[in-house]
Amino acid sequence: MGMVAKDGGGYVTGNFIDDLPTPALLLDAATLDHNLKVMSEALPGPRLRPHVKAHKCSELARRQSKLGHRGFTCATVREMEGLARAGLGDDLLLANEVLDARRLGALDARVTVAVDSEETIDAAAMGGVREVLIDVNVGLPRCGCDPDRAGSLADLARRKKLEVRGVMGYEGHAMLIEDAGERAGIVAASMDRLAAAHADVGGDVISAGGTGSYACNGFATEIQAGSYALMDTAYAKIGSPFRPALFLLATVISRSSNYAVADCGLKALGMDHGDPTIDGYRVWFCSDEHVTFGRAEGDDREAVALPRVGDRIRVVPAHVDPTVAYHERVHLVSGEGVVESWPIDLRGW
Ligand SMILES: Cc1ncc(COP(=O)(O)O)c(C=O)c1O
Repeated sequence: MGMVAKDGGGYVTGNFIDDLPTPALLLDAATLDHNLKVMSEALPGPRLRPHVKAHKCSELARRQSKLGHRGFTCATVREMEGLARAGLGDDLLLANEVLDARRLGALDARVTVAVDSEETIDAAAMGGVREVLIDVNVGLPRCGCDPDRAGSLADLARRKKLEVRGVMGYEGHAMLIEDAGERAGIVAASMDRLAAAHADVGGDVISAGGTGSYACNGFATEIQAGSYALMDTAYAKIGSPFRPALFLLATVISRSSNYAVADCGLKALGMDHGDPTIDGYRVWFCSDEHVTFGRAEGDDREAVALPRVGDRIRVVPAHVDPTVAYHERVHLVSGEGVVESWPIDLRGW
């Protein structure tokens, strides 16, 4: 064992990656810096409103804020509360609908909430929220009103004494399209819908976009990208300057002649975008607490050794957001060392 230290949560961590109990979330410090820097150069300051749902970590949000992104996008009330508590509440957007906004109205922060119905406008007004964006359905069948209803909802919000800052519309159906031209076309069509709504709503803010569209969405005044900081194998497929920074450290706990088993499974990994990957091997399947993997297709079975029981491996998640939400903390690592351990403090609802 290396030296050990107790952090704020009373959790004993090693100063070396080898000391960490597994499964453990690792965040490569240099890759994180690279991803944050590349995005900040592309979308400086308020052009980026980082979405914190991807990392749920106020320490990581602090890094984004230090790079000049003082406004944040959230998906849950808990994320809004956590950022306000961390002193990062200059301009928080809940890009999601809520029917009880009282916890938001009580925050010591600038709070804006997405609304797409009479009910959510009432909830914002009754909860003491002062500012809203009209959320528009731009093609993803999720939240958002039809573009032709946006103007009348804005009028209603104003009658309820809410400040309407503008519109938002998330083109999530375009994000993972591998063909860049096809993706850009769908983003453009989505932004046409948002532009029509914005013409009726007014306001300075047009909030949209994500990691898959940050480079081709020139219409939005601010981009809500989140995954770019950590990345995952699903986003890696569309080709971008961002690199996978998040890994799950696991220990090989069993081995057979043609496969090995490590101690991380679907309770430690978001699986909705498919199986995780393990460099040099082929993942067979995940169960609750196990990942079973074998030699990669075409490998010479004699030449490629499977890891031995006790070996540590790195597993790359297919979808970062739900993966992070399973864990209490993430370890910032450099080489073999643990630099810092950050709580995933924005988890829950
Ligand atoms: C409302 C909203 N905005 C933006 C994003 C973009 O996030 P990412 O950059 O992780 O794709 C998402 C992701 O689901 C979202 O739900």
